[in-house]
Amino acid sequence: MNDAILVTGGAGFIGSNFILTWMKTAGTPVINLDRLTYAGNPANLAPLDGDARYLFMHGDICDAELVGSLLRKEQPRAIVHFAAESHVDRSIASPEAFIRTNVQGTFVLLEQARAYWTGLGDANRANFRFLHVSTDEVYGTLGPDDPAFSETTPYAPNSPYAASKAGSDHLARAYFHTFGLPVLTTNCSNNYGPYQFPEKLIPLMILNALEGKSLPVYGDGKNVRDWLFVEDHCAAIRVVLERGRPGETYNVGGNSERANIDVVTAICNLVDEICPQPGAAPRTGLIRHVQDRPGHDRRYAIDAAKIARELGWKPAEAFAGGLRKTVRWYIENSKWVNNVRTGAYRDWIAQNYAARRQL
Ligand code: NAD
Ligand code: DAU
Repeated sequence: MNDAILVTGGAGFIGSNFILTWMKTAGTPVINLDRLTYAGNPANLAPLDGDARYLFMHGDICDAELVGSLLRKEQPRAIVHFAAESHVDRSIASPEAFIRTNVQGTFVLLEQARAYWTGLGDANRANFRFLHVSTDEVYGTLGPDDPAFSETTPYAPNSPYAASKAGSDHLARAYFHTFGLPVLTTNCSNNYGPYQFPEKLIPLMILNALEGKSLPVYGDGKNVRDWLFVEDHCAAIRVVLERGRPGETYNVGGNSERANIDVVTAICNLVDEICPQPGAAPRTGLIRHVQDRPGHDRRYAIDAAKIARELGWKPAEAFAGGLRKTVRWYIENSKWVNNVRTGAYRDWIAQNYAARRQL
């Protein structure tokens, strides 16, 4: 076993932020196994071109032979598992890919990790970690006055995406309890920041506001999410990996609950400030309430007391500052934006929004 860690899905939004910040903090080698679906973009990791500490492996986590041989060859000390289908609306339109990657893929990874870990010597077996990155959506939905999700909140997933992540969490848990594989699980709230694919709320609204397009808010816009700046999430994963207790789960949240309509309004105001259009109407005039997402969870909120108490992690970025940085990043990275908005992206936008009637 060596110093390297194996990251899955490292060409996606959180995974690429994680690898970039890992190189600046821990600085030890990273192998990135990614299938490069529509959401995976190797350009996110361009700053690591030519860096001998970084190895990219194009492949599928469902490919047991590939995963097994990669583990035997590279001998990583840990696996940090981000790879997933991650967009709720796509899971409603086409659930099958979610079951394949999120459930079957996690199973393959756990099974191959178990075989690799079983063959390690005693010290390496004790030090090995499998960190499974999951979501708060597995807990279902909250009423306005309900306490935030804690690690003991019962699972109640409501979308095919959430159900597939819940399935993967249960598998991860079972591999610890049955086989002793040193598994850690994190359940995190909504991330935002650089490199997020513009199908998700915040980047979609920033780009539409910049381009004067309508801003499609689902339903009454009062659904609440707990927003976490992606670099804070990456810091949480690093501390769980280094000091978390195997078999435990840790909830990670931003302590920033906001209704969607307030997030979209804040984006409009920031875009008006940074890119003023003298004489034009405020961008809030672009907001349109449209037909809701089926089964739309009303509120998510994370109680992150356990990770604060046990590992000393707290989010560092307040929502206003994180949102400002994010808006600036999308304005300053139009080349990245244009590269990810392919024909397939435009097809998805047409599929998801064309038939949504305005309310
Ligand atoms: P993303 O959709 O941006 O990226 C997913 C990455 O996984 C892509 O690079 C994609 O190419 C890769 N991938 C997909 N299927 C694969 C397969 N079969 N084999 C190998 N690679 C594959 O996702 P994200 O937003 O970065 O989320 C990362 C993880 O964090 C996911 O597990 C997600 O459930 C979880 N999570 C995300 C959020 C959020 O707000 N984005 C919040 C909580 C948890
Ligand atoms: O809570 C963690 C989860 O957050 C992650 O597990 C998921 O991978 C991630 O995609 C995210 O899920 P959400 O469904 O909360 O994120 P999304 O950006 O799709 O939507 C955020 C909120 O905004 C949600 O209430 C739906 C709403 N929305 C979204 C889109 C894309 C709109 O009102 N209009 C839109 O066009």
